[in-house]
Amino acid sequence: MPPTERSSVAIDLSVQLGRLRLPNPILVASGTFGYAREMEGLVDVRRLGGILPKTITQEPRSGNEPWRTIETPSGMLNSIGLDNDGIEAFVAHHLPYLASLGVPIVVSIAGRTHDEFVAMAGRLDDLAGVAALELNISCPNVSGGVDFGTDPAMCERLVADCRGATETPILAKLTPNVTSVAAIARAAEAGGADAISLINTCLGMAIDWRGRRPMLGNGMGGLSGPAIKPIALRAVYQAAQAVRVPIVGVGGIATIDDLMEFVVAGAMAVQLGTVNFYNPRASMEVLDALPAALAEAGATCMAEVVGTLVTK
Ligand SMILES: Cc1cc2nc3c(=O)[nH]c(=O)nc-3n(C[C@H](O)[C@H](O)[C@H](O)COP(=O)(O)O)c2cc1C
Repeated sequence: MPPTERSSVAIDLSVQLGRLRLPNPILVASGTFGYAREMEGLVDVRRLGGILPKTITQEPRSGNEPWRTIETPSGMLNSIGLDNDGIEAFVAHHLPYLASLGVPIVVSIAGRTHDEFVAMAGRLDDLAGVAALELNISCPNVSGGVDFGTDPAMCERLVADCRGATETPILAKLTPNVTSVAAIARAAEAGGADAISLINTCLGMAIDWRGRRPMLGNGMGGLSGPAIKPIALRAVYQAAQAVRVPIVGVGGIATIDDLMEFVVAGAMAVQLGTVNFYNPRASMEVLDALPAALAEAGATCMAEVVGTLVTK
């Protein structure tokens, strides 16, 4: 049917990520949207499909030494180091506000150990306002932060045990810094993840050659922004070929065309990250443009476009 004849057809923006239903597929990525309150004056946060607050850890963490962020061509490097006040402060001070927004809140958690991840998942089980958990097994900025995301056996056991500790839907957030994204994605699926988010940042460096020093206090950091979009697209495509669970695409998404590229590659939903720093309204712009883009693709819902890439 030509697009014009489609223009009167109702477009359904809702998406299903395993047991998690979202009103639309536009989420904001962990670490780039604070705890949402900071963004309220800039964005109608209540229209978002989901919000991922900054990753929380069991205990408070002060994060890495400065510098923690460096602008790079078409992106940025960060080595924040999971600076946060810990899970109890999150539950007491941030969750009530987040829960009041009426938007699915996907709480990002990172444990130092397997048992800590599982304990955090259990602590957040059945708490009002927690729609899902995202297991951050992909942070390049903490010691041991990517072990669970690079070893398939550890990943599968971790997801399975977190799944056993909570009724809440679970997303596993994966790193691109591996030889086989497909192998880790399969492990997360086998462990029982409702969906897989990817990618977290790509490990990188910036150097002050005159001073012979790394520019980031932590030496290395995670590259994000438009610079990593091709890597993220590739990772989403590879994961989508390997698993049946839905994929949430992240990495350099800033426009409706970026979003649609991820959807065609295999993503059912997306997270916008670094763009929130330089165009905080991007999520609203993309959301506003989505119905027309789906109509242009001849679709009435996301699922009709997901993974429709033709490679031969
Ligand atoms: C300053 C900054 C802080 C971040 N903090 C987190 C975090 O706490 N947890 C997490 O899972 N990802 C974190 N990320 C990664 C983003 O969520 C996202 O996966 C990544 O930046 C790629 O998407 P983008 O290119 O749209 O930013 C952070 C990214 C940036 C730039």
